[in-house]
Amino acid sequence: MRISVIGTGHLGAVHAACMAELGHDVLGVDKDAEKIAALASGQAPFYEPGLAELLVKAVRSGRLRFSTSLAEAAEFADVHFVCVGTPQLAGSLKADLSHIETVIDGLASNLTRDCLLVGKSTVPVGTAPRLAARLAALTGGINATLAWNPEFLREGFAVQDTLRPDRIIVGVTSAEADAALRAVYAPLLAAGTPYISTDLATAELAKLAANAFLATKVSFINAVSDVCEATGADVVTLADALGHDSRIGRQFLSAGLGYGGGCLPKDVRAFVARATELGLADSVRFLREVDEFNSSRRRMAGPRPGRRLSRQPEGRGARGHVQAAHRRRARFASAQCRQGGPVGGRDGPGSRSAGHRQRPAGLPGARLRDRAGKGL
Ligand SMILES: NC(=O)c1ccc[n+]([C@@H]2O[C@H](COP(=O)([O-])OP(=O)(O)OC[C@H]3O[C@@H](n4cnc5c(N)ncnc54)[C@H](O)[C@@H]3O)[C@@H](O)[C@H]2O)c1
Repeated sequence: MRISVIGTGHLGAVHAACMAELGHDVLGVDKDAEKIAALASGQAPFYEPGLAELLVKAVRSGRLRFSTSLAEAAEFADVHFVCVGTPQLAGSLKADLSHIETVIDGLASNLTRDCLLVGKSTVPVGTAPRLAARLAALTGGINATLAWNPEFLREGFAVQDTLRPDRIIVGVTSAEADAALRAVYAPLLAAGTPYISTDLATAELAKLAANAFLATKVSFINAVSDVCEATGADVVTLADALGHDSRIGRQFLSAGLGYGGGCLPKDVRAFVARATELGLADSVRFLREVDEFNSSRRRMAGPRPGRRLSRQPEGRGARGHVQAAHRRRARFASAQCRQGGPVGGRDGPGSRSAGHRQRPAGLPGARLRDRAGKGL
């Protein structure tokens, strides 16, 4: 199939390369000309295991090209994946949807043939029908349908998660849209990947609800770690004990600094904001507390990664531990700067046990991140 991927950031660059790997003809589009030039020469603008190899292979084969032109995408593709950012709006808990709206408007005004637009960006529930109406108003006689296909990849595992996802969720409004998405993902479906075809609202919610759940799990174990701290219990052993319960699971149960990065905080807040708009503020009050608890924990800058929270030396108060942690983190940061590597950035859930990935030499823009992966 002929596919365009609009927005070639972390999600889009990986998606474009992986769609080419699945055998499609792909055009990656971004407004950032520098990024497009790098990608077109087969260079990944950030480090992601396996991406550089996939890019080189796909660009050399001619199955993957890049452009800054939405008009070229409109002319080229049967299916357009929209992968632009949805950051938190300044001064609000809401998601900024302006990048998606710009892309919908830009594509719609250039369309010359029928096509399927597929949102992959993370959006609050109710966004897709609103965008579909916007699209319909702009496209006149052309049949341009909108579907939603939320993305669950984790940074650090993005290629693996795209080529071997746990599940594929699509929100569709027609059998034709469903058939087109089944065709896009045919090799993955043939390999047995679960495929859930549903309505737009459920697909949109699948992503934000998943991230709200993961954030809650991280905050839960961090709250429990405070109780461990006060009682001399070992939070790592406790997490293992809980994690062996198949109803609970061990992932996202590592006490530490709390979750961070580009997705979980903004997604939890966007979920709260949308539920509040729907008159459901009480239903999501606990998520506000999860967010506030997490933020205060991160402000406190807890102990360094790799250290058992529950085994603090005797006779030193919590404040002393935090101050000591600040000193260690400052030393760590200064050492990283000397090595020329970035510090922090869009990190993943702050896992106490998470290691850090050093950026390979020569790859600009690569970020240190938790092994647990930030994506989400
Ligand atoms: N990064 C992840 O691991 C991940 C995982 C799952 C879901 N998501 C979601 O995917 C979306 C994108 O995330 P990301 O991390 O790739 O963001 P990003 O900031 O890395 O990339 C967004 C890209 O969109 C481009 N862009 C913005 N406006 C554009 C326009 N009008 N035309 C063309 N290109 C435009 C930007 O230049 C940028 O390259 C977000 O909604 C995010 O929540 C991200």
